[in-house]
Amino acid sequence: ESYDMGGHDTYMHKEIAEQADAVDRVLRGRLDDRFATVRLGGLNLDAREARTMRRVKILGCGSAYHAGQIGAQMIEELARIPADAEPASEFRYRNPVVDPDTLYIAVSQSGETYDTLAAVQELKRKGGRVLGVVNVVGSAIARETDGGVYVHAGPEVCVVSTKCFTNTAVAFALLALHLGRIRDLSVTDGKRIIEGLRRLPGQIAEIMEGEERIAKLAAEFADAKSMMFVGRVRGFPVAKEASLKLKEVSYIHAEAYPASELKHGPLALIEPEVPTVAIVPDDELLEKNRATLEEIKARSGRILAVAHSEQEKADDTIVVPRNEPELDPVLMGIPLQLLAYHTALALGRDIDKPRNLAKSVTVE
Ligand code: AGP
Repeated sequence: ESYDMGGHDTYMHKEIAEQADAVDRVLRGRLDDRFATVRLGGLNLDAREARTMRRVKILGCGSAYHAGQIGAQMIEELARIPADAEPASEFRYRNPVVDPDTLYIAVSQSGETYDTLAAVQELKRKGGRVLGVVNVVGSAIARETDGGVYVHAGPEVCVVSTKCFTNTAVAFALLALHLGRIRDLSVTDGKRIIEGLRRLPGQIAEIMEGEERIAKLAAEFADAKSMMFVGRVRGFPVAKEASLKLKEVSYIHAEAYPASELKHGPLALIEPEVPTVAIVPDDELLEKNRATLEEIKARSGRILAVAHSEQEKADDTIVVPRNEPELDPVLMGIPLQLLAYHTALALGRDIDKPRNLAKSVTVE
């Protein structure tokens, strides 16, 4: 991809529109049908290590941290290794206990984010094993880590991350599948995930066909006082990223909460001027999510659901194609990137260069 805008009015729009091709690229040459696994050339992690590690800790900032949260869930689900993600900036300042049986993974688009790089250096000084999930080839974090997975999103110019976030989530799915197949994920499940991964580019293109309707919805949200984003488990990092995206590019205040936490406080914020975006996949938590929609409706809150089927309690539903449940977060975030983009467009914001923000934060 060139740096040319290629007929788009902003890089953000260009980069959202490129995602089907970008995902195709992160998958290319890596799917191994014979063994129902993936080939990750630069990973540098042998089967014995993959079997014996006891934890995975993922570190990144901003959107990279959210993609890391998706990755941690995928690793737990597919490889059954306890995994979590933490902002790199928090990790490095809390004098962490560095555990020799934990695999640390630094995640970054630029590979130059100071806090993430400093976390890697601190880990290495203490003898930690650190891999990278990085977009920019040869960047500082790519060089400092012991190996890893390149994200292959191509150049991302807009300050706000879109295609790199999506590709990073897919790169984590590859890593989770790889670890899973070394551990206890069956051939059948391995094949199921591979088939799901192959469907992603076509399904992303399908979501993009709904852009006009999302633009109309965004125009309605442009005068919102604040917005609430909710999701459960797989849907929660999607809600966090969508909330960040809206804040960064439209300057509308937004909160992201696990749907289950609403009743523990934030429900007090719900009123007609504070719309809610709810992530409602057709998974084992569907009924719980529907109960949340009812709670919001009872407080006269306007609801936009991102779901696999029309949601009766929602005022509007954006229906996304079904894939394998573990891959839902990859698809569910995409309409919400469009929502943030069109809300910012309706408000006349400087979309590619939001105020006060830099593409990569290379200072403390
Ligand atoms: C993304 O929309 C942000 N601009 C920001 O949160 C970014 O993800 C963060 O600064 C980390 O950057 P990196 O991925 O280059 O490390």
